[in-house]
Amino acid sequence: MSSKNEVFKIVVLVSGSGSNLQALLDAQDKIGIKIQGVISNKKDAYALVRAQNCGINTAFFDKDEHGKALTREAFEKKALAQIDAWGADLVVLAGFMRVLTDVFINGVYGKNIAMINLHPSILPAYKGLDTHARVLAAGDVWHGCSVHLVSQELDSGRLLAQSKLQVLPSDTSESLQARVHQLEHKILPFVVYLFASKQLLWNGSLINQMPLNLPISLYFDVD
Ligand code: GRF
Repeated sequence: MSSKNEVFKIVVLVSGSGSNLQALLDAQDKIGIKIQGVISNKKDAYALVRAQNCGINTAFFDKDEHGKALTREAFEKKALAQIDAWGADLVVLAGFMRVLTDVFINGVYGKNIAMINLHPSILPAYKGLDTHARVLAAGDVWHGCSVHLVSQELDSGRLLAQSKLQVLPSDTSESLQARVHQLEHKILPFVVYLFASKQLLWNGSLINQMPLNLPISLYFDVD
């Protein structure tokens, strides 16, 4: 962990466009963090370009030295070694679209590093994929996003913060996704800021003192 005067270090795992990574890149100075590096399981993830444009270290792992596709565990071992090499106080899954095994989860927590995930629904509703379409199909009035601690079960770790918006009669999956993204770009830097400013302590007492699995509810405007 960082000592008092050290900047708070984060490593971000991505698989795709990386608009949430961009929100963190843009917020670094403001929220007092340094993105040590970005790890992808996809070579062509645009998130890697975003990181490189900001002079941030990147790594992607998909094949072994014989050109064979890495198993999930082999990817995770390489990612853990990379996190060790860069150093981190917090690992952020920002659009990392692969289910993690115990190898990675225990590996990160075993180093006393916190790990959070961003999910596009008001958890515990709509774990997994295609959340926007499922919200529309169900005729829900509310939709939004959640940040939670990563646990062994998919999208099920302790909830830390949520933000919601109202579904409009005219909404499509795409329009919902766009508006949820706007919320995500605010809630993720905010939660990272809470960690960096020690208002949300990992392995200290503050997370445990939060009412049982009751997230902080954050109101943000959608433009
Ligand atoms: C976000 O909606 C996030 O909640 C989900 O994947 C999406 C990633 O978007 N896990 P981006 O790559 O950050 O633009």
